Amino acid sequence: MPIKQRQKYRDDYYATVIDSVGDGVIVVGSNGLITLCNPAAEQITGFSQRQAQGAEFNKLFTLETTLIEMLAKTMRTGITISDHENVVVRSTGKITPVAVTCYPLVEGNGENIGAILTLKDITYIRELEAAVRQADRLSTLGTLAAGLAHEVKNPLGGIKGSAQLMEREFTPDSDLREYTRVIIRETERIDHIIRELLELASPRALKLSPVNLHKILGDILLLQKKAVVDKDISFIKQLDPSIPEIMADEELLTRLFLNLICNAIDVLDVDGRLTVTSRVLSDYRMTHYERHSRMVAIEVSDDGPGIPQRDLENIWTPFFTTKTAGTGLGLTICHKIVAEHRGMIKVESDPGHGTKFTVLLPLVR
Ligand SMILES: Nc1ncnc2c1ncn2[C@@H]1O[C@H](COP(=O)(O)OP(=O)(O)OP(=O)(O)O)[C@@H](O)[C@H]1O
Ligand SMILES: [Mg+2]
Repeated sequence: MPIKQRQKYRDDYYATVIDSVGDGVIVVGSNGLITLCNPAAEQITGFSQRQAQGAEFNKLFTLETTLIEMLAKTMRTGITISDHENVVVRSTGKITPVAVTCYPLVEGNGENIGAILTLKDITYIRELEAAVRQADRLSTLGTLAAGLAHEVKNPLGGIKGSAQLMEREFTPDSDLREYTRVIIRETERIDHIIRELLELASPRALKLSPVNLHKILGDILLLQKKAVVDKDISFIKQLDPSIPEIMADEELLTRLFLNLICNAIDVLDVDGRLTVTSRVLSDYRMTHYERHSRMVAIEVSDDGPGIPQRDLENIWTPFFTTKTAGTGLGLTICHKIVAEHRGMIKVESDPGHGTKFTVLLPLVR
């Protein structure tokens, strides 16, 4: 092969290698100008290769002071610097947490001719860390609650039994009989909460079988539509027909989506919209777990009042409720069901415009 052709082949080969790297790579010359920016870097920073190539790094990334400082230090000292904790990139308009390493670019003769920045998008890692922290918090609360529930269960049985005996002592038209009925009704309510709590805190084996998510969602929506005809809510389904059956506990998933859909219906007024969508996230890897898996995402969104910022942190906490007749256990149970399926649940809410719950479940068959 002639030398020129061989050189071109090598250049193309290296360019393909850099473009194929999943992390963002930005190369800056010692004059501060960007000489290379790969597609992953385009995605993270929001700047296209055409915008970046030849541009002055410090001008293009004015907002990213940490990157500018790291780059300057590597250029000055020739040492490699990493920061996997504190860096975020804002250029795309949204805040992306990134792990950054800045390597010196050194020629064969030892001359420092610039620096290479590698950027790794760690949004998902941050989300997983948050999910783990939340799970820890909930499991402590769950253990506490279970202890309490055990203590309350026995005296409650005594109260209910005595009230039932007392009820028989009064004549049907006696006021006292009505009072005992109230005692019985309210102890039953406490009993229901306690059973839910105990279930929440106890480990349980999933009854796994191939589950058709769309059938579950379709059945729930059909039933709920009938239950709230007078509210005239629009139920919108945008389901990806290519989603296969997943191995899951059908009863628990039904409970999960019923809770989310009922919560949405509760906050919707007449003419509200409730949307359920499903899709496969092919690039979502939960490397946190031993097995890499594709995920299916199911979103339940409403255009209701949204959740105030101050409540967002608390909605997963047992007994947090803003409803007069709510137990505040619905979302705690949802959280547990999703964790048992090795998935993830998250919420986004725009006060005044609505709320979106996203459930991610591994697509294992
Ligand atoms: N779609 C939503 N829009 C607005 N707020 C919501 C939504 N979903 C949940 N919430 C808030 O989160 C709180 C907790 O929900 P959770 O399902 O755990 O309990 P609950 O609905 O109040 O009671 P329960 O589920 O026992 O009936 C609710 O009281 C409400 O304030
Ligand atoms: Mg609820």
